[in-house]
Amino acid sequence: MNRLGGKVAVITGGAAGMGRIQSELYASEGAQVAVVDVNEQEGRATADAIRASGGVANYWKLDVSDESEVEIVVSDIAKRFGAINVLVNNAGVTGADKPTHEIDERDLDLVLSVDVKGVFFMTKHCIPYFKQAGGGAIVNFASIYGLVGSQELTPYHAAKGAVVALTKQDAVTYGPSNIRVNAVAPGTILTPLVKELGSRGPDGLDGYTKLMGAKHPLGRVGTPEEVAAATLFLASEEASFITGAVLPVDGGYTAQ
Ligand SMILES: NC(=O)c1ccc[n+]([C@@H]2O[C@H](COP(=O)([O-])OP(=O)(O)OC[C@H]3O[C@@H](n4cnc5c(N)ncnc54)[C@H](O)[C@@H]3O)[C@@H](O)[C@H]2O)c1
Repeated sequence: MNRLGGKVAVITGGAAGMGRIQSELYASEGAQVAVVDVNEQEGRATADAIRASGGVANYWKLDVSDESEVEIVVSDIAKRFGAINVLVNNAGVTGADKPTHEIDERDLDLVLSVDVKGVFFMTKHCIPYFKQAGGGAIVNFASIYGLVGSQELTPYHAAKGAVVALTKQDAVTYGPSNIRVNAVAPGTILTPLVKELGSRGPDGLDGYTKLMGAKHPLGRVGTPEEVAAATLFLASEEASFITGAVLPVDGGYTAQ
């Protein structure tokens, strides 16, 4: 298939979890993929695996919360691949699991710096390249936790709520430049990170997936492939009249 043929796609947090699955999928759909991630070993392995299966990819080490690094890496990607057409702001951390009255400034800064400032900086520095290309598509990673409350991860809720608002604001601002900005809001997705967290619980990974699955009307948790299929749609020309949308990929979690 060639749904991203001729496009250059930047995928933050592209080394592992949903980022890796998206990097592989986008490359298989014809994109030249820039895998950017703080995790050098996994990032190189992802780009190597894509090249080994005939795709085009390169890895850049980057902490998205560092604006000066973002500026340098984005410019380097554009030089290497000749353009930037798609940005997937997938990198994210969950941070401290405490209620508001127990959060200290450091806990808050850690999550906001990656999940909010990272999205800001990547978007800010990709916009000039989208304008040069005559348009572009951004897919941000919000979460069900940016749409509704829960019993856990308070700073993460605040961060993902900000991503929802920024998605709509940027969609309005950059629509006239033919730059579409959308977001996905995943439910619980079985990434390696979530598997590891779940397996630490009292009933192991099986108990965790049953417990979390029961909270989603479809009766199960999701897969990275199901989220990747949704972001690919939003990034591709198939979504050419969709901007400012926040698409839940959550088995009905937020429909309740
Ligand atoms: N897994 C879920 O259940 C779930 C649900 C809703 C939303 N999300 C969101 O989906 C996105 C991907 O989640 P995942 O579960 O695949 O996570 P993950 O932890 O498996 O992968 C995240 C990747 O981001 C990278 N990363 C972290 N901080 C970074 C930084 N400062 N700069 C660059 N890269 C950085 C990590 O090294 C890692 O490769 C995140 O934004 C997350 O908040 C996940």
